[in-house]
Amino acid sequence: MIPFQSLAQTYGTPLYVYDFDAMKEQFETLKEAFRGRKSILAYAVKANSNLSVIKHFASLGSGADCVSIGEVRRALMAGIPAYKVIFSGVGKRDDEIREAIASDILYINVESEAELGRVEMIAQELNSKARISIRVNPNIDPKTHPYISTGLHDNKFGVEINAAKRMYIRAKNSEHLDPVGIHFHIGSQLTQLEPIYEAAVIVADLMRSLSAIDIDLKFFDIGGGLGVRYNDETTITPYDYAQAILGAIKGLDVTILCEPGRFLTANAGYFLTKVLYEKQNGQKRFVVVDGAMNDLIRPSLYNAYHRIEALDKSGEESLADVVGPVCESGDFLAKEYPLPMLEHNDVLVVHSAGAYGFGMGSNYNTRGRSAEVAYEDGQARLIRSRESFDDLIALEREYL
Ligand code: LLP
Repeated sequence: MIPFQSLAQTYGTPLYVYDFDAMKEQFETLKEAFRGRKSILAYAVKANSNLSVIKHFASLGSGADCVSIGEVRRALMAGIPAYKVIFSGVGKRDDEIREAIASDILYINVESEAELGRVEMIAQELNSKARISIRVNPNIDPKTHPYISTGLHDNKFGVEINAAKRMYIRAKNSEHLDPVGIHFHIGSQLTQLEPIYEAAVIVADLMRSLSAIDIDLKFFDIGGGLGVRYNDETTITPYDYAQAILGAIKGLDVTILCEPGRFLTANAGYFLTKVLYEKQNGQKRFVVVDGAMNDLIRPSLYNAYHRIEALDKSGEESLADVVGPVCESGDFLAKEYPLPMLEHNDVLVVHSAGAYGFGMGSNYNTRGRSAEVAYEDGQARLIRSRESFDDLIALEREYL
C-alpha cells in the first residue's frame, strides 16, 4: 500500500507518484511473454519521460523508443545503451537526424520517401552509413480513439506497402543507408488483438517478399499500443499479444522489437490532488481541486476515464464534476463522478496516471508543473521538484 496521505503532506499537491515495483512487474511480464525469442523491449519514452523512470527501465535491460532528439538524449543520459535506442517520428529535423546518426543508435524509423532522402544525405555528409527501418502503414483500423489511431492511410504516419518496397530497394543500393528493420504501430490503447495480428501478417509478408529479393531485415518492430485497464474494459494479455505476433512471423528469423509505453507505466502512476472547495451551481455539484488540465490533460483531450479515490473518506456518494482552477470549461478530471461529501484539503487519488500524464503537462495559466515522486521497496523519493514561479519565467525575465 502506498501511503498517499503522507506523501501528499510531505511533498504537497498536485503530485505524481510512481510505483516503481509495479513498473518492474509490467516490464517483466511482457518480457516473459516473448521468452525464448530474440526480443528487445524499447520503452516508449513519451509515455513518461522522467529521467529516473527511464533509468529504472534501463536497469531492467530496456531499450528506448524516442520521438525527438530530446528523448534520445534523455534515454542515453539515463543509461540506455545506444544500441537499444531507436528514433521514430513523422517529422525529424536535419539536426536531429545528424545527432541520431552520430550517436550510433540502433536505427532511425523512417516515415516517408522524402525523409529517406534526408537521412541518406546527412549520412553521406557524416561519411557514415545510417541504420534504418521503415514505418509501414498497413491501413488497418485499430478500433481505438481516433486521436490515438495511427495505422490508417488517413493518418499521417508511415508509408504504404508499395512505397516501402521502393524505399527498401533504394536503401539497399545506397552506400549510406543500411536497412535493418521494419516497423508498424497502428495505434495506442489497443484492446482488441485482431487488428494487431492483421497488421503483423501484412508487414511480415512484406518482409518475406523483401527477403526474396535479397533484402534481409533483422528487426521486426511491432510498435507499442498494448491497452491497459482504466475502468472495466477487457484488454489484451501480454501472452496472447506475443502469441499473435509469433504466429504472424512464423518462419522468419528476426529480433522482435516492441515499444510499450502505456502498458509499462499507466497503472503504476497516481496523480494526487487536494480539494479546494465544494460548490453547487443549481443542481450541479462541483468539487474544485488544486490539480488541473495542465497537469493531466487526458480527461479534457480524449474524454478519458480515470478512476478517482477519495482518501480516508466515506459516506453517501453523489455525482460531481471534479474540476481544476484553469480558466476553461474543458478543465476537468472527471464528470458526473460519484464521490462522498468532501472538505478543504481532502486528498483525491486519480488512478492510472503514469502514462501521458506529467509528460503532456503544460504551464498554462502560469501554473508550475507538479513534483514527481518514486515509490520503491517501501521508500519514497523525489524524482522531480515542483516548478517554481522563477522556473516559469527564467527564459523571459532577461528581456523585460
Ligand atoms: N511507438 C510509437 C511509434 C508510438 O507512436 C507510440 C505512441 C508508442 C510506441 C507507445 O504507445 P503505447 O504503448 O503507449 O500505447 N497521449 C495519448 C497516447 C498517444 C500515443 C502516441 N504514440 C494518450 O494519452 O492516450
